[in-house]
Amino acid sequence: MTNVTLPADLAEKLVTSSVYASGELFDTYRWLRANNPLGVAEVEGFDPFWVVTKHADILEISRNNALYPSAVRGTTLTSQSGEARARAITGTPHLVRSLVQMDEPDHMKYRLLTQAWFMPANVKKREDDIRALARQAVDHFAALPGECDFVKDVALHYPLRVVMNILGVPEADFGRMLRLTQELFGASDPDTERFKAALSDEQFAQLLIGVVQDFTDYFETITADRRANPRDDLATLLANAEIDGAPLPPFERTGYYTIIATAGHDTTSSTAAAAMWALATVPGLLDRVRADLSLVPALVEESIRWATPVKTFMRSASADTELRGRQIKENDWLMLCYASGNRDEEVFPNPDTFDIDRKPNRQLAFGNGAHLCLGQHLARLEMRILYEELIPKLKSVSLAGEPRLSESFFVSGLKSLPIAFELN
Ligand code: HEM
Repeated sequence: MTNVTLPADLAEKLVTSSVYASGELFDTYRWLRANNPLGVAEVEGFDPFWVVTKHADILEISRNNALYPSAVRGTTLTSQSGEARARAITGTPHLVRSLVQMDEPDHMKYRLLTQAWFMPANVKKREDDIRALARQAVDHFAALPGECDFVKDVALHYPLRVVMNILGVPEADFGRMLRLTQELFGASDPDTERFKAALSDEQFAQLLIGVVQDFTDYFETITADRRANPRDDLATLLANAEIDGAPLPPFERTGYYTIIATAGHDTTSSTAAAAMWALATVPGLLDRVRADLSLVPALVEESIRWATPVKTFMRSASADTELRGRQIKENDWLMLCYASGNRDEEVFPNPDTFDIDRKPNRQLAFGNGAHLCLGQHLARLEMRILYEELIPKLKSVSLAGEPRLSESFFVSGLKSLPIAFELN
């Protein structure tokens, strides 16, 4: 059996956000899957953590929430000083408490508040509204002069509009929500303005707390408004929701709004952009899908696998256990590397090839088990509609510059995709 501790240089890569914006990430994961698929990363400033790179192990851990809970330790990779700061402020390892940071029985009580809303039958009722937003996005695209940055001009805005409409955030505040999301998920990216001034871990943590406070202030105003003036939106549902006969406590209420306002668009934006990246670079793909629009769902599914925008979530162990022949101890911390599971050669032949003929496509970018992404049906629907509207208009597309990815070991994806295109 290989040494349980990962080579120091590889472990270091896993906590280096710039690695997540380059092909180095996939080289690292490929090496880990082949040589040490379940090993421990020991990096100065971080508690040691298991690095889970195999598809089967990610599923096993995600499906067994009692053994691998989410609430006990940080759900995103956090330095020791970052975690200490969170504990000092919230009394927990988390800066927010959303569904993602909860275990049973709380988790299911909270999830049930909105679960029916996110089920396919209900989400489908929004199809006409979403199609209208997709048409606006495509009209905007079609009016561009044959070259654009597809992320900045299209992909960033359409999923934002979809989720903000559903949540009930007024249009004047969309820009603010986009900036706060980028600050929360992309704090480590060098382009994220608010964090440029952070010289120390301490300052970085302070700025992150500021982001959470901004979300809290914003959603407290929305809550007061929706209690006075209920409407047909998710904000009204959350403002008036009750758990065990009482309104949601403020910490949990902010967490709920925040996860929908953030998880609901950044992930979908980078996946929608990844589909365009594939159309621009995979020979024959655009012609094939344009000739047969029933292939759009397969294009979307492979783009989700390809992009895997949520790179990692963390779990801990609630008891001593064994996995892949390794002895995991109670309270050990584990990193689920979704982007590695989605390129596991045991599940996906030629995993580095973009292939819309994968059947079944067992991509796990939405996680699995109790925390399986609540927004997965909405995400698929909105991407399908966008490409059903866009592809018939698109005659050709090619790259017009270097694609750039955001630097984050949590949520990362395309932040710039320069393309040249012709319309039919
Ligand atoms: C949970 C990925 C889109 C809302 C998750 C999780 C992943 C994920 C991996 C699991 C977290 C865990 O196991 O701890 C994605 C990807 C998306 C996407 C890849 C798009 C391509 C959305 C959208 C929404 C959304 C559009 C809502 C509008 C949520 C919520 C949870 C969640 C509320 C928490 C569920 C729970 O803990 O019970 N997502 N997501 N997501 N996602 Fe998504």
